[in-house]
Amino acid sequence: MTRPFFVGGNWKLNPTSLSAAKSLVEALNKAELDPATEVVIGVPAIYLIPIQEIASNGIQVAAENAYYKESGAFTGEISPKQIADAGIPYVILGHSERRTIFNETSEVVALKTRHALDAGLKVILCIGETLKEREEGRTAAVCEEQLSAAVKQLKEEDWSKIVIAYEPVWAIGTGKVATTSQAQETHVDVRKYLATAVSPAVATATRVIYGGSVTAANSKDLAGQQDIDGFLVGGASLKPEFVNIINARK
Ligand code: G3P
Repeated sequence: MTRPFFVGGNWKLNPTSLSAAKSLVEALNKAELDPATEVVIGVPAIYLIPIQEIASNGIQVAAENAYYKESGAFTGEISPKQIADAGIPYVILGHSERRTIFNETSEVVALKTRHALDAGLKVILCIGETLKEREEGRTAAVCEEQLSAAVKQLKEEDWSKIVIAYEPVWAIGTGKVATTSQAQETHVDVRKYLATAVSPAVATATRVIYGGSVTAANSKDLAGQQDIDGFLVGGASLKPEFVNIINARK
């Protein structure tokens, strides 16, 4: 089965002005992008609406987080319903920075995923192991544990709205990209887990993308792996080379 190639940019807490954010999107609006690639950019909450308003060229926008309540006394949070109401189609959930810096457990990430889907959003669901966990041979087990919380919250049909981003923590922002075989092997393990825990059909159809120090230079080899269906790109999504990453399969 062919899974449409997916490239996400994750701007994280960047840039620090609306004009710089608009310049990033305007460059993408003008670029020649592979029409076969689904392109989604994760944007800080304060810029979501103005960026959504100017994004064209097939570029979709994602929130980088959302709470698991619709409304109420939750100072500082934004809800999936508000994101959907703004016409934003995606949200990134469970990024390792949310898990480690903001103490989000897999259960909280799963609850957020449930509520995001209920609000009509699609979810880029991030998982991945630390260096210690990899060295202990626990990569597959950690990814399974992180996914199992979501499995408990989701029905089989929900998985068509999920893109899994495998992001080894040791590769994020470090310049240490996983080798093609390390990434491919883990993606296969993720699919094996989905086949058992959800269904073989979901395992085959769900896109599993790789994140962690992806650049224009390493994206072609990674994109050539059978089970790597795209990327979630941090630092390089703020640079002109993001276009080459989007076109990695071209
Ligand atoms: O979500 C993307 C990510 O965490 C990878 O960041 O800067 O290593 O591409 P980076």
